[in-house]
Formats: sequence, C-alpha cells, structure tokens
Amino acid sequence: MKQFTIALSLCTGLALAITATAAAKNELPPASKKTGLTFDKDIKPIFEKSCFECHGEKKQKGKLRLDTLANALKASENGKSITPGKSADSSLVKAVARLVEDDAMPPEGKGKPLTSEQIGLIRAWIDQGAK
Ligand code: HEC
Repeated sequence: MKQFTIALSLCTGLALAITATAAAKNELPPASKKTGLTFDKDIKPIFEKSCFECHGEKKQKGKLRLDTLANALKASENGKSITPGKSADSSLVKAVARLVEDDAMPPEGKGKPLTSEQIGLIRAWIDQGAK
C-alpha cells in the first residue's frame, strides 16, 4: 500500500511538471524593467548576432531586414512584425519566444534561441515605442 501511494504521488508530481512546462511554453518572457532602450544601443547588437545572417544587408528572408530601425519597422512578407507599444502583439516577439515551432526564429537548428533576458529587452523596447 505504501509503495502504491509513493507511485501515485510520483505520477501526480510528473503530471504537474508536464502541465507547468506546457503552460510556460505559451507564455512570453516578461518585459525588462529597463528604460530608455533604443534600437542602436540595445537591440541591434542582439539582431546582429542572431538575425543579420538571414535578415541583413545580404539576405532578406521573408522580405524582412533588421539592420536599421527604419527597415525593422517596415512591413515584410506577412505585414509588420513589430507593433510599437504592443510587444505581445508583435509577431517578431512571438517568433523569438518560439511560441509556434514552425515560426520560431532563428529557425530550429539555425542558431541559438534568444535568452529570456534578450526577449525581455526586445519586449520593453517595443512597449516603449520602438525608438
Ligand atoms: C538561418 C536563417 C534565419 C535566421 C538566422 C533568422 N531568420 Fe527569421 N526568417 C527566416 C526565413 C527563411 C523566414 C521566412 C520563412 C518563415 O517564416 O519561416 C524568416 C521570417 C522571419 C519573420 C517573419 C517575416 C514575415 O513577414 O513573414 C520574422 C519576424 C523573423 N524571421 C524574425 C527573425 C529574428 C528576430 C531573428 C533573429 C533572432 C531571425 N528571424 C533569424 C530565416 C532566418
């Protein structure tokens, strides 16, 4: 009986852990609390390291170019990927947070996913108006 109880509580624990992981996957990392964020100072270095290879001067996959603020704010293949003031509605944020595997950026196996800190900075920058 004791063994059965232990097994049961292990199963419950596992189920809870799986549920927690699944829930976390659908959530965006919180926006950073930093203020005064700008594209050139805070965001461009992130894009340069992880995105320019496919969205820079030489290549513009999905017709998206992220090397200057003006280019990043332009509409790409599926419309604007950044909505100033609304990071949670911006498809670029959903892409780097890897909410949908098929739309994850950088694409699976094509580079290191952004960290929660980096995504938080991008979110805060967009929420502050994407300046
Ligand atoms: C190895 C190449 C590669 C890298 C690196 C890459 N992307 Fe992409 N990206 C693509 C391709 C290919 C598409 C278009 C097809 C698609 O949506 O899967 C795309 C599309 C997109 C789109 C959608 C554009 C539209 O209007 O459809 C966004 C937003 C995006 N990328 C953001 C990023 C960001 C931000 C980074 C860096 C964190 C990044 N990508 C890194 C290849 C890449």
